[in-house]
Amino acid sequence: MAAQTSIDTLVTIFGGSGFLGRHLVRALAKRGYRIRVAVRRPELAGHLQPLGRVGQIHAVQANVRFPRSVETAARNADVVINLVGILFERGRQRFDAVQTFGAETVALAASAFGARMIHVSALGADEASSSHYARSKAMAEKAVLAAVPSAVVMRPSIMFGPEDDFFNRFGSLARFLPALPLIGGGTTRFQPVFVGDVAAAITDTVDGKARAGTTYELGGPEVRTFKQLMQYVLATIERRRLLIPIPFALARLQAQFLQFLPKPPLTPDQVELLRHDNVVSEAAEREGRTFKAFGIEPTAMEVVVPDYLWRFRKTGQFRDRVRSFS
Ligand SMILES: NC(=O)c1ccc[n+]([C@@H]2O[C@H](COP(=O)([O-])OP(=O)(O)OC[C@H]3O[C@@H](n4cnc5c(N)ncnc54)[C@H](OP(=O)(O)O)[C@@H]3O)[C@@H](O)[C@H]2O)c1
Repeated sequence: MAAQTSIDTLVTIFGGSGFLGRHLVRALAKRGYRIRVAVRRPELAGHLQPLGRVGQIHAVQANVRFPRSVETAARNADVVINLVGILFERGRQRFDAVQTFGAETVALAASAFGARMIHVSALGADEASSSHYARSKAMAEKAVLAAVPSAVVMRPSIMFGPEDDFFNRFGSLARFLPALPLIGGGTTRFQPVFVGDVAAAITDTVDGKARAGTTYELGGPEVRTFKQLMQYVLATIERRRLLIPIPFALARLQAQFLQFLPKPPLTPDQVELLRHDNVVSEAAEREGRTFKAFGIEPTAMEVVVPDYLWRFRKTGQFRDRVRSFS
């Protein structure tokens, strides 16, 4: 490994077409790695090509539910990274199939080719959780480490960035809803983390800066409750909306119906997930299994979020000019 330069190093990324994927592909391309992005529909991964030099990024077809396709995509790779995840179940895309057995399939392929393995899990992964998402993530970690004991596992908190699903979702909802829900009273704690920082930590891991067989917990500089995050979204988009506390049981009932929408805003399993705080553990802080290990100072959401949430303001980016005319 020591004599290998980054252009000699082939990195296969499963789930590279997603939100974290595009930031990671850009960061790895900047450091000169050869990148194979394994995606279900390579024809839709065209947006990744301009993130690197000609020929540096190559998209191939793979579905983690189909071991043959995973083996082909992992062949000859020096490093295999698994970013595949789903937020809700649909058809054959079940948490167990995609997040647990899919992750295990990727790890077994990495092991077969002698590649290093990096697996992205999530804070809150817990085999005893009432959330199926969190249980499947915990079981995936176990399966990955069984297949590749030297694998590095990354557990981010909720990620923010221009294409995120969290701030954009509530910013968008606030445009037409008179009120935003505070599920379970809005007391669940989060540690929002910048997607670019998570991509940097993974890139450092590819560079060889992480401890083998270690699970890192990645959170931003501040812990905020769900209610504080809703207040922050509303302040940023300059809208006044009621914040209505909804008990978990009622939210679960609503989610029973909402889950059937094509892109459900809430599912019963997500309500279960909201019962648990999503913050870096004391053990991880104590043992240095955080951004500190990489010398990364996590970015505050105030630095990044207003740059893309402005589009949910009534006057968009023309706020000052409109005021001066009115
Ligand atoms: N976003 C967050 O706030 C957050 C927080 C904590 C942890 N995480 C974890 O971080 C990882 C990346 O998250 P993200 O936000 O970037 O997710 P994302 O945007 O939804 O991307 C998920 C990726 O997985 C791929 N995928 C889904 N099913 C697949 C299958 N059967 N075979 C192959 N690829 C499949 C998707 O490709 P298609 O286009 O083919 O569907 C997509 O590229 C996930 O494991 C997620 O659980 C995310």
